[in-house]
Amino acid sequence: LRAQALEAIQNSTDDQAINEARVKFLGKKGPITAVLRGMKDLSKEERPKVGQFANEIRDQIQVALDEKRAAIEAARLNQQLVSETLDVTLPGRPVIQGQPHVIQQIIDQIIDLFVGMGYEVATGHEVEEEVYNFEKLNLPKDHPARDMQDTFYITPSILMRTQTSPMQARMMEKHDFSRGPLKMISPGKVYRRDTDDATHSHQFHQVEGIVIGEHITMADLKGTLEAVAQNLFGDELSVRLRPSYFPFTEPSVEADITCFNCHGQGCSICKQTGWIEALGAGMVHPNVLKMSGVDPEVYGGFAFGLGPDRFAMLKYGVEDIRNFYLNDMRFLTQFDQKG
Ligand code: PHE
Repeated sequence: LRAQALEAIQNSTDDQAINEARVKFLGKKGPITAVLRGMKDLSKEERPKVGQFANEIRDQIQVALDEKRAAIEAARLNQQLVSETLDVTLPGRPVIQGQPHVIQQIIDQIIDLFVGMGYEVATGHEVEEEVYNFEKLNLPKDHPARDMQDTFYITPSILMRTQTSPMQARMMEKHDFSRGPLKMISPGKVYRRDTDDATHSHQFHQVEGIVIGEHITMADLKGTLEAVAQNLFGDELSVRLRPSYFPFTEPSVEADITCFNCHGQGCSICKQTGWIEALGAGMVHPNVLKMSGVDPEVYGGFAFGLGPDRFAMLKYGVEDIRNFYLNDMRFLTQFDQKG
């Protein structure tokens, strides 16, 4: 029996076999238990001998079981150590690193420029009150110029802002002019009820700019816009202002930048004019100042609104604005700043 048991234990290679051997030889229905149970039928003389012998065998089997179990456990641990070894010399898998979207890159560049000139940056609400988007910008209800910007209304008084200009009013209302002029840019998304095509997107971006203080002139506006043009498109470019119309500026202008491609010589990008239409701007209308609690007799200044989408298209020769919003990585990774 002992030999049988020890052999069975030796041949066990896993926990289950060990367990079976234990049940078979030491279990309640096993031979040892049977012998020990049968003791009562033995004579007084035989009992201690048989008992001792049975106990010995039981102990030996138990020891063998314990040893084997430990051996199996050790073997498993070893195998695990081998199979889970890390080869620290293997080259790593490349991690795809994200990067700012090309439009955000342009916005960040504009922010850097203006922060360097002492402007504050304020982001507003994409869901805006009609009052701020239109009324306080000198666009009363039924003003025909509202047709210039097809609007997504949420309720009659709440809308998706069609421009970042509401931030002009919001910031002027908050500003304490006794502490100096207001100099602010406001980048963000704007929405218009347009049908998307190569040059229209129902959602695009603007960066609003406003400077209000004493003795601010149109020359300041021109100089500021020139700084933008040179920062984004190249040194030595200049800006020209053409008369235009916005209800919230008077006079209003459309600013053109010298064509960065031909430097004013005339090429296909600037349609042979030497100039590229860049943005809308003007001197803030006295009505707008008044409605935001600013005295037009004392303070005044300029505002502009530029389109980073348009700037990105110009700068990189992108012909379809929809490319910016399709999230095609083949397109977007072209603008990887890490090169
Ligand atoms: N908000 C105008 C637009 O979206 C741009 C603009 C801003 C014009 C500020 C003048 C002053 O067309």
